[in-house]
Amino acid sequence: MQHRILIRDLPAKLGETVIVAGWLHRLRDLSKFGFAILRDRTGLVQVVLSTEQLESLKGFQVETVLKVTGEVVKKQSKDPNANEVEIQAMSVEILSPVKDVVPVEINKEEVDVQLDTLLDNRVVTLRHPKQRAIFRVQAALVHGFRSFMESQGFTEIFFPVLAGAASEGGAEFFRVDYYGREATLTQSAQLYKQITMGVYEGVYGVSYSFRAEKFATSRHLTEFNQLEFEVGFVDDMEDVMAYGESATRAMLAEVAMSCVPELELLGVTLPPLGDRFPRVKLKEALEIYKAGTGIDETQEPDLSPAAEKWLSTQWAPKEHGTGFVFVTHYPESKRPFYVALDPEDPTSTLSFDLIGFGSEIVSGGMRINRYDEQIARIKAKGLKPEEFEDYLMMHKYGIPPEGGWGMGLQRLTQNVLGLANIKEATIFPRDVQRLRP
Ligand code: 4AD
Ligand code: MG
Repeated sequence: MQHRILIRDLPAKLGETVIVAGWLHRLRDLSKFGFAILRDRTGLVQVVLSTEQLESLKGFQVETVLKVTGEVVKKQSKDPNANEVEIQAMSVEILSPVKDVVPVEINKEEVDVQLDTLLDNRVVTLRHPKQRAIFRVQAALVHGFRSFMESQGFTEIFFPVLAGAASEGGAEFFRVDYYGREATLTQSAQLYKQITMGVYEGVYGVSYSFRAEKFATSRHLTEFNQLEFEVGFVDDMEDVMAYGESATRAMLAEVAMSCVPELELLGVTLPPLGDRFPRVKLKEALEIYKAGTGIDETQEPDLSPAAEKWLSTQWAPKEHGTGFVFVTHYPESKRPFYVALDPEDPTSTLSFDLIGFGSEIVSGGMRINRYDEQIARIKAKGLKPEEFEDYLMMHKYGIPPEGGWGMGLQRLTQNVLGLANIKEATIFPRDVQRLRP
């Protein structure tokens, strides 16, 4: 819209006549005159309406789309230091009339409904400033990721979503009918990003991952995004983790820089990063958990959700001034066929998770880059090498020693913003029950 001014930029236009446009967020009828609160993608502004202008809005509901021409004036306030502005309307034009009452009130401080109601009415509830803010922060995280990867000279890859075989093994994959043949939806871009190691040496991408999870939990979706990364010619797993730490720092720095109003609106203080994310082996992590809480899970092959939470929200902040901790060397039985075994202990793997502010946000590790070793590993996992012919072709024709990781975008957003359920950090979530909107 030509000459339209965004609400955020109005203070600089004090005394000028401007055009603003947006949604009728609220209307206050004071009989002789009235106030319309107008909302655009940058905020809210109060518009002072005459009796006639007020009259012209009679019968229209909130969310009616308006174009207002008016003068930017200082808002009357008891606080002499307040420098908020408002608009004295000269004309009000209806761009899109709304006659129906919205199903959920979105003009209060909070959208005060159950999660299911929030999501059933997503089309409308997403318009609430706090809901909008969540996905602005998410976008900034992705922007920070891309900027970091570009600064390293890596190549962005667009991975396929339809594939012939399961990408991570296991049973959690969706089957789709593909012209009468069976195809699957990729559980991650894993196999494809590895294949590109034979070409680009360093790649990244934002992928779609599908998991046929059996239960809906507060941390699992059936469709989510991963920030994928893979790098070749590394000396060891530390190189791969270092990229994970740097990327995470760059992403949070981007949020801190570009999302000040959003963080303020959401009441979020970004968690501490510290000087260095600690790295601990799984066995040590379980010992630390036992020593700190008295809970003995030292015989477990994995971290429980409670242990992940304690390590990243209690132990790491106290001992290392950060909300992040790398846990390494998960047992062979807990990791997929493509993860390298630890040469010092073949029951263990060169793998890691990055636990951040409550739960796992990243999984990664070193891969197997030798052909024979990979075939043996596929067989040991009870899988058939014939089904991985394309994948194995890269080993056959040479890929460098390499590793990588995948970061769950919605999981990260959830943890950074301290949201109780991952679905709050997902714009249009899908889970066992939900496939709409
Ligand atoms: O741990 P995952 O399954 O690892 C992989 O997919 C590997 N290919 C990564 C690699 O490069 N080695 O998934 C990676 C991340 C998890 O750490 C978590 O943040 C997120 O993706 N994630 C999920 N997010 C939402 N719903 C689910 N069902 C998720 N499963 C994993
Ligand atoms: Mg994982």
